[in-house]
Amino acid sequence: MIDTNRTTTIIGIAGSLRRGSFNAALLRAAAEAVSPATRLEIASIREIPLYDGDVEAEKGVPDAVQKLKDRIASSNGLLLVTPEYNNSLPGVFKNAIDWLSRPAKDIARVFGDRPVALMGATPGPGGTILAQSAWLPVLRTLGTHPWFGARLLVSGAGKVFDAAGNLVDEHVRSQLKSFMTGFEQFIGRIG
Ligand SMILES: Cc1cc2nc3c(=O)[nH]c(=O)nc-3n(C[C@H](O)[C@H](O)[C@H](O)COP(=O)(O)O)c2cc1C
Repeated sequence: MIDTNRTTTIIGIAGSLRRGSFNAALLRAAAEAVSPATRLEIASIREIPLYDGDVEAEKGVPDAVQKLKDRIASSNGLLLVTPEYNNSLPGVFKNAIDWLSRPAKDIARVFGDRPVALMGATPGPGGTILAQSAWLPVLRTLGTHPWFGARLLVSGAGKVFDAAGNLVDEHVRSQLKSFMTGFEQFIGRIG
């Protein structure tokens, strides 16, 4: 059961910089699908630069990275909305998570035992299943607590969202609602 006496905060990140991103649209729809006791805050990877060990050694982690690390650390869960590139995860998204994992001594605070859910959208037929699988070793390495209670694989995204990025497919809306409810319940159980 979801504990209605407290607000659950989920940080949601879409792994695309594209203005018309289907994955950003899916994340916005997810934010509307959560229960009233949950706030899904949309975070962006746009300000996160390419990882550079020299920059880290000389200046530490960039401000945008530090701020997002702190938001994740104080959240109850993390939702990654992933595109699929070349049957794997997109470099820009992985780059963001790599920065967020620095310095390594902070990984436990940011990611340790953090409930994490994965979903994704593609205009193709595969629903991002290979991208979602490619995230698993990363989530394991960071010591997260992934939720495997359901899968949300959005195929044919060009028909699922309208030109303005609104979710217009009622079947996907219903899948999204039950996916988010399941993730919220998982957070309630382990959080
Ligand atoms: C470099 C590159 C590789 C891609 N590889 C795949 C792929 O392996 N599987 C797939 O379903 N779509 C693939 N696509 C298409 C993406 O799913 C599509 O561009 C999608 O719109 C990206 O997500 P976004 O809408 O959130 O930006 C690829 C796109 C790019 C740019």
